[in-house]
Amino acid sequence: MNCDVKDINLAGKGRLRVEWARQDMPVLNSIRERFVREKPLDGLRIAACLHVTTETAVLAATLKAGGALVHVCASNPLSTQDDVAAYLAKEEGIPTFAIKGEDADTYYRHIHQALDVKPQVTMDDGADLVFTVHTKRQELVPEILGGTEETTTGVIRLKAMARDGVLRYPMIAVNDALTKYLFDNRYGTGQSTLDGIMRATNRLMSGSIFVVAGYGWCGRGLAMRARGMGARVIITEVDPLKALEALMDGYEVLPMAQAAPQGDIFCTLTGDINVIREEHVVAMKDGAILSNSGHFNVEIDLEGLARALTSRRPIRESVEEYTLQNGKRIYLLAEGRLVNLAAAEGHPSAVMDMSFANQSLAAEFISKNHQKFDKQVYTVPEEIDAEIARLKLAAMGVEIDTLTPEQVKYLASYDLGT
Ligand SMILES: NC(=O)c1ccc[n+]([C@@H]2O[C@H](COP(=O)([O-])OP(=O)(O)OC[C@H]3O[C@@H](n4cnc5c(N)ncnc54)[C@H](O)[C@@H]3O)[C@@H](O)[C@H]2O)c1
Repeated sequence: MNCDVKDINLAGKGRLRVEWARQDMPVLNSIRERFVREKPLDGLRIAACLHVTTETAVLAATLKAGGALVHVCASNPLSTQDDVAAYLAKEEGIPTFAIKGEDADTYYRHIHQALDVKPQVTMDDGADLVFTVHTKRQELVPEILGGTEETTTGVIRLKAMARDGVLRYPMIAVNDALTKYLFDNRYGTGQSTLDGIMRATNRLMSGSIFVVAGYGWCGRGLAMRARGMGARVIITEVDPLKALEALMDGYEVLPMAQAAPQGDIFCTLTGDINVIREEHVVAMKDGAILSNSGHFNVEIDLEGLARALTSRRPIRESVEEYTLQNGKRIYLLAEGRLVNLAAAEGHPSAVMDMSFANQSLAAEFISKNHQKFDKQVYTVPEEIDAEIARLKLAAMGVEIDTLTPEQVKYLASYDLGT
C-alpha cells in the first residue's frame, strides 16, 4: 500500500465516520453518480492537499469514481483524522500521506509524496502544494493543466504569485465561488470554530466576552454564532467598511489594544499576521483563552507569547497554559492552529458538500477547458455556482419561484418607469 498513515487498522472506524458524512453530502453524491456513468476524469492524475477529514474522503472517492488517479496529503499538520487517512488508503485504495501531529519535515515529505503522482491537476487548501511545485518540483509544471484552491489565504497567495508573474499554471479560486464562501466560511467556520473552542475548554459561552478579530466571512459567522450562545461579542477590524458593518450588526467594535483587557475568549480569523501580539497578551485578564481559526498559525504572535512567559504546560487536550511574567495565566488552544480542525472535526459535512462539489466540478472544468486559460487565477464559472445552489436546494426539499415571461421581459427593459 502506497501510504503513510498513523495506523492502518483504524480504517474500519474511518469507514463508519465517512459513511456518516456522506449521508449529509447529497450534492457531491449526485455528482459522484454522474461521474460513475460518464467518467469525465478518466486517467486524470490529481494531487490533493486538503484537511484529511471525512468530507475530504467523500471528495477523493468522488474524483476516483470519475476515473481520476488521486494522491492525498494533509494541508495542515494538526487537522488529519487518522482513521479517515487509514480508510482512504486501505479501503478506497487512494495513496494517502497524512498523520495528525506530524512535524514540519514530515508535512513537506507528505506533500512531495502526493506530488509523486505527477499531477495534471493540483488541489490545494492554503497553496502549500502549488508553492512546493513552484519552488522544489518545477519539473512537474509542464504536465500540470491547472489547479484549484480552497481557501481565502491560498487565493491571496496565488493572486500575489500571478501579480508578480511567477504563477506557472492556471488556478481556479474555489474559495471565491458564492456557494463556497457564503456558506463554508460563514456558517461552517462559525459553527465549527465554536465547537472546537467548546470541546477544548468546556467553558460557558453565555455571558462571556468573546473577541473576534476580523469581520470577514469567517469572522461574521463566528460572531453570529457566539452571540447566539449568549456571549457578548467584540469585533476588531482594520477595514472601516467591515468595522461599520459589524457596528450596525449590533456588535461592539474596538481596537485590539482596548479589547485585550476585556475579553475572556479571543479568536483570530483574519488571514493576517501577528494580530494578537505580546503587548496585547500581557494586558489580558488572568485565564484568557486564545485561539485562531484563520488558515495559518501566524495570527497569534507565538514568539511574543514565548517572550512573555515564565512557564508553560499542557493542561487539557488542545489546551496549553502559559504563565506570564506578570503572573497571569493565558490558555492557548491547538498551538494557535485552526482550532475548528485541530480541536473539533472541521466544518459540518452539509456545508463541505457545496465546497467540495465546487472542487470536483472545477477539476472537471479544468480537464475540459485548460487550453483556454492563461497563468492566472480564475473564479468558478457562474453556471457551476448556480447548479450547486440548485442541487442543494433540491436536496433540502426547498422549491423556489421562477420568473414569469412578463418578469423576464420587465427585468431586461428600461421603458417602464413611474
Ligand atoms: N477555519 C476554517 O475552517 C476556515 C475556513 C475558511 C477560511 N479560513 C481562513 O480564515 C481566514 C479568513 O478568511 P475570510 O474568508 O473570512 O477572509 P475575509 O477576507 O473575508 O476576512 C478577513 C477579515 O480580516 C480583516 N483583517 C485583516 N487584518 C486584520 C487585523 N490585523 N485585525 C483585524 N482584522 C483584520 C480584514 O479586513 C477582513 O475583513 C483566512 O485565513 C482563510 O483562509 C478558515
